[in-house]
Amino acid sequence: MNPTVHTYDAVIVGAGGAGLTAALYASRNVRVAVISKLYPTRSHTGAAQGGIGAALGNVSEDRWEWHAYDTVKGSDYLADQDAVDVLCQEAVDTVIELEHMGLPFDRLPNGRISQRRFGGHTNNETGRPVERACHAADRTGHMILQTLYQQCLKHNVTFFDEYHVVDLIRVGDTIRGVVAVNVATGEFHIFHSKAVMFATGGWGRCWEVTSNAHSLTGDGAAICLRRGVPLQDMEFFQFHPTGIFKLGILITEGVRGEGGVLINNEGERFMEKYAPHIKDLASRDVVSRAIFLEVQAGRGINGRRYVHLDVRPETVNRYFEKEGESRRIDAAYIESKLPDIADFTRTYLGVDPVKEPMPVQPTAHYAMGGIPTDVDGRVVVDPQRTVLPGLYAAGEVACVSVHGANRLGTNSLTDLVVFGRRSGVNMADFCQQSDLLPLPDGAADEVIAEFERLRAGRGDISPYSLREQMQTLMTAKVGVFRVEEPMREAIAELRALRDQYRAGLELDDQGRVFNTDLMEAWELGCLLELAEVTATSAVARQESRGAHAREDFPKRNDEEWLKHTLCYKEGDDYRLDYKPVVIGRYEPKERVY
Ligand code: FUM
Repeated sequence: MNPTVHTYDAVIVGAGGAGLTAALYASRNVRVAVISKLYPTRSHTGAAQGGIGAALGNVSEDRWEWHAYDTVKGSDYLADQDAVDVLCQEAVDTVIELEHMGLPFDRLPNGRISQRRFGGHTNNETGRPVERACHAADRTGHMILQTLYQQCLKHNVTFFDEYHVVDLIRVGDTIRGVVAVNVATGEFHIFHSKAVMFATGGWGRCWEVTSNAHSLTGDGAAICLRRGVPLQDMEFFQFHPTGIFKLGILITEGVRGEGGVLINNEGERFMEKYAPHIKDLASRDVVSRAIFLEVQAGRGINGRRYVHLDVRPETVNRYFEKEGESRRIDAAYIESKLPDIADFTRTYLGVDPVKEPMPVQPTAHYAMGGIPTDVDGRVVVDPQRTVLPGLYAAGEVACVSVHGANRLGTNSLTDLVVFGRRSGVNMADFCQQSDLLPLPDGAADEVIAEFERLRAGRGDISPYSLREQMQTLMTAKVGVFRVEEPMREAIAELRALRDQYRAGLELDDQGRVFNTDLMEAWELGCLLELAEVTATSAVARQESRGAHAREDFPKRNDEEWLKHTLCYKEGDDYRLDYKPVVIGRYEPKERVY
């Protein structure tokens, strides 16, 4: 099987917000191909709902420095503060730029971009919530994706849709391209290039209940790990507090930003206990743990594993009045600000959010960890932050690190466009100064052999059954709360699943044409590896910080653990190393919400 070879200056893997932004900028100066396993506008950026964070100050006073402080505090002080400054400062221009590209943001009566409250967004002087989330109803990510894709088409960016990248071609410390499968034909293609950027998103599919689409299988992170790149801070995976019960589909934090409240089986607004100042708008790790504890204490609705999210106008107005807020909302306001949420809950639950509260539970949502990069998207491979020339990452798959141990809501979209742009610009510069190095012989042989092994497998376990087992054990043992022994069990069980995976799977489809059975089997290999890296990194970190909550080490321990984890794959094992956190203006202190 001889792969077809294509030659470009740069290839970008993934066509979500980060990939498209990078493509738009890089393609101004060099030849770029965007390779995506999905049709671009189906990328998961489209699922981001509530807003993109930028301190425009359109509704109430705001400053990028307040945004930076909230981001660092939200991160439980694990974010690198130099990178956070870049994120929050550049967010403002980036949002204006999106507006100029035609993004249909909601508007205030004065014509400016509408902004709403979100978890952890505060006026640093008063501690009161501040409106920082710029939004297009509750379809902000969808609108960003559509806008960027249209801009890419306008600027003649070349797309390879439904080409699934399965390997990185690395020779020593040089990057030569990627190997991809054309999903429609099963044929292998080599994309020979000077630079490669991964913008492939997260891996929420390691868990049972997740807001992540079926395609979020961590391909880019797993490929880089296999090619000698460490993964950073993988123990930190965010559970969004409000997923639709059992389904996990996201119910935006914008619901609480508009005044919605969380209520337990006793009718209590329980966040008043856990975060007396900011209540339902505390950071996500705090709210998810509160829901978990309420359920554990038997205060889930009807004794089940969910609580209510109540955005009925009469409830919201009652709390506005109690808190001395002058504004009031009505049903029409909910319908206009949260149309998709209303549609989702009516469709999937038969619940009308204007008339009834919504059943919600924490849902695996976002990887804070990933491929380590600098602020220009260049991949860095050791504690000294040595750059691997020609390799880039941006978006959720990357770890810059601006999210540290817990991401602030809306910063995912900000991250995509701010660091997507910087990566695209830097990658174009790199390509202009570099030669195209030759492809090594048999560049695709290893991954082709792996696909043949998977396709020919006559094992007696289906990939779907293995995946379910992985998701169950990750939820039970490496979920919202963690303890050493169950995590060690999880690692042993994941290894047993890996052995079964290697012994051969039972695939229904042995063909080549549009064989999603085969592609999903390969994706499962990625998920299994990332699950093991997550558990291995988590068991080692003997403290609680952000989304990593250890029942056996309940306190944050800055003396020993104010550092980033790096996890390297060495044969069948994983080796951990650590690197310092960049501290700037904000010395770590206790988080109070
Ligand atoms: O709640 C939300 O709308 C999610 C936004 C985000 O993850 O930043």
